[in-house]
Amino acid sequence: MEKFVIKGNTRLKGEVTISGAKNAAVAILPATLLIKGVCRIDNLPNISDVRIFCEILEELGAKIDWIKENSIKIDTTNIDCTSVPIEMTSKFRASYYLLGALLGRCGSAEVGIPGGCNLGARPIDQHIKGFEALGAKVDVGQGKISAKCKNLKGTSIYMDIVSVGATINIILASVLADGTTTIDNAAKEPHIVDVANFLNSMGADIRGAGTDVIKINGVKELNTSGTYSVVPDQIEAGTFMLAAVASRGDIIIKNCIPEHLDCVTAKILEIGGNVEDLGDSIRVWSNKRPQKATIKTLPYPGFPTDLQPQMGVVLSIADGTSIINESIWESRFQYTNELNKMGATITAQGKTAVFEGVKSLSGSPVYATDLRAGAALIMAGIIASGETHVYNIEYIDRGYEQIEQKFRNLGANIERVSEE
Ligand code: EPZ
Repeated sequence: MEKFVIKGNTRLKGEVTISGAKNAAVAILPATLLIKGVCRIDNLPNISDVRIFCEILEELGAKIDWIKENSIKIDTTNIDCTSVPIEMTSKFRASYYLLGALLGRCGSAEVGIPGGCNLGARPIDQHIKGFEALGAKVDVGQGKISAKCKNLKGTSIYMDIVSVGATINIILASVLADGTTTIDNAAKEPHIVDVANFLNSMGADIRGAGTDVIKINGVKELNTSGTYSVVPDQIEAGTFMLAAVASRGDIIIKNCIPEHLDCVTAKILEIGGNVEDLGDSIRVWSNKRPQKATIKTLPYPGFPTDLQPQMGVVLSIADGTSIINESIWESRFQYTNELNKMGATITAQGKTAVFEGVKSLSGSPVYATDLRAGAALIMAGIIASGETHVYNIEYIDRGYEQIEQKFRNLGANIERVSEE
């Protein structure tokens, strides 16, 4: 078992380069199943979710060649299986994209119930609603979901709730369908735009990604070759922006898209931090204690729920009382118990948490409960006095590439340690 050992009281300074986006990569990889040929994917984050996805695609018959640390060539000419066991799918959430992709390519898919971070209930009724609207017969039982349809037909689908996963899954199932599919009340996250751009670069006809109405004109087939580079990770960039504020540091975050982080920039300015847009980089610095704030997480372009725990660390040491309303997930405040072990004063109830800002945190053994909570606990350890041990770091490896190296380059004293 591995853990991070962090010696704190550090002001982070320097430059960090952002990797490709996890939530785009784990959608683009299954999207390659819609191509009967070879394509090259660059700027793939080398994280465990991506590596597991590649294993699954190879199980289905794809040939994958890692041409560089962050680039693969994938040949999906011969996909000879449409069933993916739960042992593989339960390791992460995005395995649900295999449903849309295999249904779209083969007219049938059988996928184990997806796993992923424990953030409370994570229903997939909107995914199923979309597949059924396109004409598929969907069954859920014995730990798996199966969907079958010989001829998917384009249609109009109104999403009852804004869902990233369902929006992408319906796009995947519609690209090769007969006719036009319209997704109304669609999610607008940057990773949705990236999947659509990837598929369009391969000959699909998807319009309006990034708005709440997406139109997919079905095409007979996609091109059989092409190269695509995954968009920089909005959430990784936001994590380092908030780490700069929490540590009263000065960081240049390179290879990111500043407009994807407008809502984070607005909140940092509100709490007394500084942000400078440098085109394909952002500089964030602060030399004073953050001010209190009220945060409500919302679908893009609102404040992302995947930066809520990181903002929680900032508000735990802010001057005054802050409130966070988590509107997306039922139970995304588990990390506050760990911060309270470090001397924070946070009261969390359901979807709301109240942060009585304290002057400083102190080191302690703490346990990551999910990917973003893990990143937040590293931030807390870097600013706390004394030593912090962060456990369950396999959660963090699911979504952050070489996080300890990146923080070390910014001056943090952090070690990955194996422990019996
Ligand atoms: C994606 O999850 C991300 N995961 C999550 O990031 C992120 O927190 C979430 O979007 C919101 O931004 C990936 O992209 C792999 P949703 P997803 O469908 O698709 C409800 C991380 O840390 N809902 O947008 O599962 C649902 O319960 C992860 O990188 C239904 O009710 O989220 C939630 O309340 C954690 N029925 C809301 O919609 C459905 O069929 C948004 O969920 C689908 C969703």
